Amino acid sequence: MRDLPARLRELLLETGYTLDGVRERLGTVAATALAREETTPALRATRDGDPLGTLIRLWWLGAPVEAPDWLPVDPLVEAGLLAVQDGLVSAKVHLQPWETGGYVVSDRKVRPGDPALREDHVVGAGGASANLAQLVSRRPAGRVLDLGTGCGVQVLHLAERAREIVATDVNRRALRMARLSWALSGIDGVDARQGSLFEPVEGERFDLVVSNPPFVISPRGRFTYRESGFEADGFCHDLVRLAPRFLSQGGTCQLLANWLHVEGEDWRDRVGGWLAGTGCDGWVVQRDVQDPAEYAELWLRDAAEQGTPRYRELYDDWLGWFEAMKVTGIGFGWITLHDSGSLDPVVRVEELGQRVELPVGGYVDEVLASVGVAHRLSDEELLGARLVLAEGVVEERTGPPGAEDPSRIVLRQTRGLCRTARVGTVEAALAGVCDGDYPLGPLLAAIAELTDQDAVDLRVRAPEALRPLIAEGFFHISTA
Ligand SMILES: C[S@@+](CC[C@H](N)C(=O)[O-])C[C@H]1O[C@@H](n2cnc3c(N)ncnc32)[C@H](O)[C@@H]1O
Repeated sequence: MRDLPARLRELLLETGYTLDGVRERLGTVAATALAREETTPALRATRDGDPLGTLIRLWWLGAPVEAPDWLPVDPLVEAGLLAVQDGLVSAKVHLQPWETGGYVVSDRKVRPGDPALREDHVVGAGGASANLAQLVSRRPAGRVLDLGTGCGVQVLHLAERAREIVATDVNRRALRMARLSWALSGIDGVDARQGSLFEPVEGERFDLVVSNPPFVISPRGRFTYRESGFEADGFCHDLVRLAPRFLSQGGTCQLLANWLHVEGEDWRDRVGGWLAGTGCDGWVVQRDVQDPAEYAELWLRDAAEQGTPRYRELYDDWLGWFEAMKVTGIGFGWITLHDSGSLDPVVRVEELGQRVELPVGGYVDEVLASVGVAHRLSDEELLGARLVLAEGVVEERTGPPGAEDPSRIVLRQTRGLCRTARVGTVEAALAGVCDGDYPLGPLLAAIAELTDQDAVDLRVRAPEALRPLIAEGFFHISTA
C-alpha cells in the first residue's frame, strides 16, 4: 500500500487512538495499574471488541486480537507492524500516541514473565523522554541535533521550532523505528544518521543539542537503550566534554544524566568538573539520588528481570561493582551547557528537590541568564543597576507571637523553580521597593537611614548578599 504511514495515522486518529482517547477509555484505575505493569484492569476495559479497544489491546497492551476487517492487516504485516498467527493478529511493535499529538513506535514493552530483552531493544517514550522534553528551551532553533534518538520522540517535540533536525543513534533498529514514528506523526525531512556519540556529525555545529542518553551506570553494557558500555558515568562525561565543539555561537546543549556519588568526593565537584574548562556556561541540577541497591533494583525491574533465575546474580554483581568503586549513591539530573561567548564562563551545580513549574524549557534561558549576570556583574555595576523583584515572589515572616521583629524572613518564588531563600531585613526591604525605578545605590542609602545603619558599610556588604538572589532569579536587572 502506498503511503501507509499517512493512511495509518488517519485511521488511528479517526478511531480516537489518541492520548486523551486512551486515557478516557482506560480510566484512572486501569491507567495507574498499567503504570505498575499490571495489565488486567486495562484488558478488562478494552474487551468490547470495538475499534478503539482493539487498537489499545493490540499496540499499547501487546495482546493478540481477532483480525479486524477495518484494519489493513496485510500491508501492516508487510511493514513489520503486525504479525498473524492462527487467525489472531498481534503487534510486532509498541505504537503509542504521544503528548505532542504524534505517534511513537518502539519495541514492545517487556513485563514480568516476558522473554528476555534483546540487546538492541528500542525503548518506547516514557518518563525520562517527557522529562527531557519539558527541560528543553522553547526558543526557536535553527539546526538541532537529537543524540540517541531511539524511538524518535524528542524530534516530535522539536519539529515545530527547528529549521533542520539531525537525529543519531548507534542502534540501526532504533533509526528504523524513529523513521516510522516521524512518518506517523506527519514529520518529514529529519536527517537520521547511525553512529556513536558525535561521530555521525563530526565537524558540524548546532544551535541546540538534546540528548536523553544511555545514562544507566552498570557493570556491563547489556542493553543499548540505556547502557553505553562506557566505564561508569563516562558516557555522560564524554557527551558534556565534547558537546561545546558541536555548538554554534550562542548554542545550547541539554541532556539528562546520571552520575556517581563516590566516598570522599563531593558529587558537585565530580559533575562540575565535567563542565569546567569547556568555555560554556553551565547549569547542573540534581533532582534525585538513589542508593546503590535502589538503583540496581530500578533497572533490573525496568528490564523485567525481577523473579528471573539470574536476578540475584545480576543484583549481587551490580552491588559488588559499586562497592569496589566506593559508590555511595547515584544522582539523577539535568545538565545544560550554553555557549554564551563569555570569556568568564560560570557553572552552577545545585540540588532541586522541590516541585517546579513546568515546562522548565519555558524559562531555562532566563535561569542561565540570571546565573551569568550575577557572576559577571562587578560590585560597582551592581550598585548602579536597577533591580526588579521577579514576578510571583512572596515574603513569609515567622517569629514568636507578639515579637516586634520576625526571627526569620523567607522569600519564596511561586513561579519557575519555586526556590526559597532566607534573607535579612535589608534584602527584604529591597524586595519591597525594587521595581526598576531607582538604582540599587540610592535605595541602599535610604534603607541605611531608615534602619539606622552605616550607609558605607551597607554598600560594601549588599552586593555579596544580593548576588545569590540575582543568580537564583529573585531579582532581575532592569534593562528598560
Ligand atoms: C534512553 S534512550 C533515549 C531515547 C529517546 N531519545 C528518548 O528521549 O526517549 C537512549 C538512546 O541512546 C542510544 N545510544 C546508546 N549508545 C549510544 C551511543 N554510543 N551513541 C549514540 N546513541 C547511543 C540508544 O540506542 C537509545 O536509543
